[in-house]
Amino acid sequence: MRRMAEPYRIKTVEPLAMTTREEREAAIAKAGYNTFLLPSKLCTIDLLTDSGTSAMSDRQWSAMMIGDEAYAGAVSFDNLQRAVEEVYGFPFVCPTHQGRGAEHLISRILIKPGMHVPGNMYFTTTRAHQEMAGATFHDVIIDEAHDAQAEHPFKGNVDIAKFEALIAEVGAENIAYINVALTVNMAGGQPVSMANIEAVREVCDRHNIIMWSDATRLAENAYFIQERESGYADMSCADIVKKQLSYFDGLTMSGKKDCLVNIGGFLAMRDESILVKARELVVIYEGMPTYGGLAGRDLEAMAVGLREAVDDHYLAHRIGQVRYLGEMLQEAGVPIVEPIGGHAVFIDAAKFLPHVPQEQFPAQALAAALFVESGVRSMERGIISAGRDAEGNHRRPKLELVRLTIPRRVYTDRHMEVVADAVIELYRTRESITGLRYVYEPPTLRFFTSRFEPLG
Ligand code: F0G
Repeated sequence: MRRMAEPYRIKTVEPLAMTTREEREAAIAKAGYNTFLLPSKLCTIDLLTDSGTSAMSDRQWSAMMIGDEAYAGAVSFDNLQRAVEEVYGFPFVCPTHQGRGAEHLISRILIKPGMHVPGNMYFTTTRAHQEMAGATFHDVIIDEAHDAQAEHPFKGNVDIAKFEALIAEVGAENIAYINVALTVNMAGGQPVSMANIEAVREVCDRHNIIMWSDATRLAENAYFIQERESGYADMSCADIVKKQLSYFDGLTMSGKKDCLVNIGGFLAMRDESILVKARELVVIYEGMPTYGGLAGRDLEAMAVGLREAVDDHYLAHRIGQVRYLGEMLQEAGVPIVEPIGGHAVFIDAAKFLPHVPQEQFPAQALAAALFVESGVRSMERGIISAGRDAEGNHRRPKLELVRLTIPRRVYTDRHMEVVADAVIELYRTRESITGLRYVYEPPTLRFFTSRFEPLG
């Protein structure tokens, strides 16, 4: 097989921190064994998230110079709106400071207290905003998504039978909307097929339900459709992106992922009455409807980035790089979520540390140990991220994972080899990793700021 290289060359470099094991041990203790609380300057390879961590292109940096910083009527808004219309096919757009800003607005607009919101697995901030608006979230993803090793080409698919059962149970009029994430972050970056999107649309049409998308990683989803779904091999990812979205009434976007920017997000929709409500709210929570909490230069960078992100060559390398890391781990026998997803490799911490029970936070402990071993920063996606239910009990997700999230256009394939070496070394010495106990637990989105200490 011919090898593929990064489809870019590097114009600016940022030196990486080199640390000793003693420095890392002190740092993780000071951070309460929570990788979110580590100083980034001590993270040699930072795989905490793919959110806002992309490297921008020379074209994006040049576009920033023409940002229009007028308070009102800035041309930068027109440029973003044109890009959203051309690439995503939605006529109306309302910028927000990032994805959760858009989630906040749409939850307030579409949810009345007591309503229900089905989705293909939860995302932390998405569900928090839905619940704060008074809704109950229902997971309607296919069962395979909750099994780290189940093989399915589109493990992010909505289970149509579960969706219809919910409609029968609560009544279509009590469903605020269905939220379909492209791809599904918490399931391991798993895609949704075009056929499934079409099937959801058919159900929504029959019951008059609004079909919304968390389109955060929509370009990566399109790549999987091109690769795996029959009939799409010859369609460009740009065309697949547009076709996917053609079934939706609107979307929330975290531009920090598939718009290749460091900050930014938006709502886009077809229904002007939703736009009017979004504009009423955005002035209170974010800023004028033409900037939504962003600078004009941020809007310009996002308009360029969202076009770059649907390029076939960019996506082939992007997904290929994630897969390269995942396959090195698979070959060494390290348990990971399969198939390998779009933005990250997820280590199955429950299998990696079978001697650490879930209430001793195996994924959190593994993420801390990986940092000490190598300076690689990763993130817990398990019982800590899932939080507590209304009764105050831990939610116990079936997936107890550590996410190695790959920033876009930042690291080379050689960095992936260094990460793989570190994880494989840790796997050899896994028996020495112990569980953790809580020292401080915040009331919401606890994974961000919780503090722990090691047991034993
Ligand atoms: N939806 C999904 C699927 C996400 O992954 C994120 C963010 C958001 C919404 C919220 O967007 O951060 O711009 O407010 N995910 C990041 C992550 C934080 O690390 O997975 P935001």
